[in-house]
Amino acid sequence: MSSMPDDLLTYRPEFPILERTNYMISNSLGAMPRAVYDALHAYADVWASRGVRAWQERWWMLALEVGNEIGALMNAPKDSVSLHQNVTTCQAVVASCFDFSGKRNKVVYSDMNFPSVMYFWEAQRQYGAQVCMVKTDDGITVPTERLLDAIDDHTLIVPISHVIFRSSYINDAKAIIEKAHKVGAHVVLDTFQSLGSVPVDIQSFHADFACGGVLKWLCGGPGVAYLYVRPDLGTKLEPKLTGWFAHENSFEFATGPIRYADPPFRFMNGTTHIPAIEAARPGLKIIREAGLEKIRDKSKRQTARLIAFADQHGWRINSPHDPEIRGGTVSIDMPDSQQVSRELLARDILVDWRPKAGVRFAPHFYNTDAEVDAAMAAVVEILNARPVSA
Ligand SMILES: Cc1ncc(COP(=O)(O)O)c(C=O)c1O
Repeated sequence: MSSMPDDLLTYRPEFPILERTNYMISNSLGAMPRAVYDALHAYADVWASRGVRAWQERWWMLALEVGNEIGALMNAPKDSVSLHQNVTTCQAVVASCFDFSGKRNKVVYSDMNFPSVMYFWEAQRQYGAQVCMVKTDDGITVPTERLLDAIDDHTLIVPISHVIFRSSYINDAKAIIEKAHKVGAHVVLDTFQSLGSVPVDIQSFHADFACGGVLKWLCGGPGVAYLYVRPDLGTKLEPKLTGWFAHENSFEFATGPIRYADPPFRFMNGTTHIPAIEAARPGLKIIREAGLEKIRDKSKRQTARLIAFADQHGWRINSPHDPEIRGGTVSIDMPDSQQVSRELLARDILVDWRPKAGVRFAPHFYNTDAEVDAAMAAVVEILNARPVSA
């Protein structure tokens, strides 16, 4: 197959690991931008030279500023995004805004959610949550109608992935949110596998909450997750998972119950994770400059290329064929897929393997078509080299 002219490739030199590997794993950990070295050096300089004054001069407001940078990528209004360490914590902050002791105590989710999110909500049974898990029929998609039917007058929360980590299926977020609102429920949309790869317009979705991390498609490294709260809810809700950063006047060091600050600090709790936030910025800047629409167009093209190749070889594809409902990953369960993934890693073709998915290939804006082809050619070579069974 021939390659297309591609100006996104001008960003390749910004990512050192691309010189040494075929990096097909941005659905797990996006490549590190070279500028992170400088960002972390600058962080150390500030700490070393400004000491405690750094809080006032830079660090206190950093979560708000970077929250706004992330928010801008999903069309979130200013100051509606708080930062946390991971998505599981974001779910906990949301859960702590609600009470499961009343009649409206049902949590509806899909078994295609990321497991950490399931574990968290299942554990809320001990506080009175009635948990309803809607199962996939085919291991790829979420049965939208059945999910919508499960969302009823008793439903309090619907935690749902926008893009499924295992198959890259794009959920019908609009329909799910619409149904939830019709019956008075709230949706927590996990945009971890979408933002940075698949467009997210949080206002057009009318999402109540959205959360994700920056370490995959946003190339921001581990340790930073974001939580969007719809502004009209944001001024009303009172998270019980709270702390002094959420106080309207933290430095009053007041005793007794909290008096909540406005969002986004209202949804934070203890001291923020400054080094991780500093490290996240270069990736966000590049993604912003590269442009989310261009990234999506390229992703559709390269994932289609992977699918065409896999189809040609008759390998099982555990991702949607339709690009409109497919995110940035193609999961391919070729024969001996776990062994194939090990051998790809040994050749510095970075992928991963997941049960019920197979080998996940996740090209991003910095990958060439030649890398996509080389990864597929390597699979053929590995499969051809297998001993022939008697
Ligand atoms: C959709 C999705 N949600 C959540 C997570 C991770 O959650 P946490 O940030 O709590 O580790 C992942 C992957 O790591 C994911 O793919």
